[in-house]
Amino acid sequence: MNDRQVAYYPIMTNQMCMQCHGEPKTEVLTTTLAKINTLYPNNKVTGYKLNELRGIWVVEMDKQRSE
Ligand code: HEC
Repeated sequence: MNDRQVAYYPIMTNQMCMQCHGEPKTEVLTTTLAKINTLYPNNKVTGYKLNELRGIWVVEMDKQRSE
């Protein structure tokens, strides 16, 4: 019956994320910020901190069957 499985994975920030989501100027280069603001003029996604929970992946899949 219940042959589906749902998994939840937290989306945590790491140093890599800070290059776009960190503090402007100190962590996000001015050139990077300028580009992001051109592509996403209405988005404010800087000011994140390290090891913050920023979201969650929800993945639904078939349960493996042993036949
Ligand atoms: C190359 C630059 C870049 C990197 C690296 C990056 N992001 Fe992003 N992120 C963006 C941009 C630009 C947006 C906005 C895109 C949009 O809204 O369509 C975004 C959006 C998001 C959002 C949605 C924000 C909202 O309020 O809608 C989350 C959450 C997020 N990023 C988390 C992360 C995490 C966690 C990492 C590291 C694992 C990461 N990002 C790495 C550029 C980046």
